[in-house]
Amino acid sequence: MTSVYLDHAATSFPKPEGMSQRIKTYLDTVGATINRSTYQRARDAEWVTYSLRKHLAAFFHFPEDPSHVILTPGATYGLNLILKGFLKPGDHCLVSGMEHNAVMRPLQQLSQLGVSFDRIPCDLDGRLNPADILPLLRPNTRLVMLSHGSNVCGTVQDAAAVGELCAARGVAFALDAAQTAGHLSVDFSAFHLSALAVPGHKGLLGPAGIGAVLLTPAFARELDPLVTGGTGSVSDSELPPLCLPDRFEPGTPNLPGIYGLEFSLQYLETVGLETIMAHENALTAQFLQGLRGLSGIRLAGISGPAGRTGVFSLDFPGRDNAEVADELETRYGILTRCGLHCAPSAHKTLGTFPQGTVRFSLGFSTTAAEVDAALAAIRAVRKA
Ligand code: ALA
Repeated sequence: MTSVYLDHAATSFPKPEGMSQRIKTYLDTVGATINRSTYQRARDAEWVTYSLRKHLAAFFHFPEDPSHVILTPGATYGLNLILKGFLKPGDHCLVSGMEHNAVMRPLQQLSQLGVSFDRIPCDLDGRLNPADILPLLRPNTRLVMLSHGSNVCGTVQDAAAVGELCAARGVAFALDAAQTAGHLSVDFSAFHLSALAVPGHKGLLGPAGIGAVLLTPAFARELDPLVTGGTGSVSDSELPPLCLPDRFEPGTPNLPGIYGLEFSLQYLETVGLETIMAHENALTAQFLQGLRGLSGIRLAGISGPAGRTGVFSLDFPGRDNAEVADELETRYGILTRCGLHCAPSAHKTLGTFPQGTVRFSLGFSTTAAEVDAALAAIRAVRKA
């Protein structure tokens, strides 16, 4: 039985042709780290690392110097850096009712240290109304942080409208683009962002263990490092350097990940985001059309193709969702993710807590035939 991979919201698969070879070439023939040594192989690693920062800056319309593109082990690390490095006791933060635990767990930790937060309400489709932010702002509100696209149901927030509102009130705006980077246009300037966190291994099609945070200089100046250590710079001092990216990148970075992500970004640039969006939008419309009128399923979130990504959560009334996911794999080869998707807050908003859902998430490598196969399996496993 062939398998149909519909878990792109967890991680993308397969990776672009040639990426594993690029990583192997680094491991076999370069092997050096950055910022420490002066021989040619180390300079090769430095050049690729710089090139990655430049590609990330271009991809996200980042208007600042590439030194403000900080490489991280992933989006979770980046979100922790933003929240724990920026918020101080007495500060207030706003998040949406659709956040992932990569935001909620750091915030709950911070609340033990005197940081307070509120959730901007979202409707049953998981959408927030930017106007609802205004009454929640307090004199000590320093940060609004949003998940751009939901990892549970694909709902996308109006980041440009929220960013405009935050800019007008002098509140920093940070975006978690874990589910939109590489799927939709994420425009640092148009969204008036202070900080953006992205993973490398999802829509950007890179390997796991590498991601990035993009910071305005003003935001970076108010950010404390999450981890400190050797940077290969200012080595006469026992204090973390002030210069970027070194201040936020102690230790030897994930060079295989850097080579892999630099490769996949070049691939994305060659293909073009417009092509990716057109393909994923067509599959999204096909999937939703196939669900229309089907009994024995409940789609969480937005039922139309607009304002969403290709992430779909289905509840199967009368059936155990974990059993459904197991049956989808063992009988039909459809690979999904069931449960609460590390996002209890989002499931509460969508009315799917605590039972959770079976999530089907599309990617650029997904084909129309695979969507048809998934729809046929859904029709077969539901309790009609
Ligand atoms: N946050 C990722 C997901 O939703 C891992 O599956």
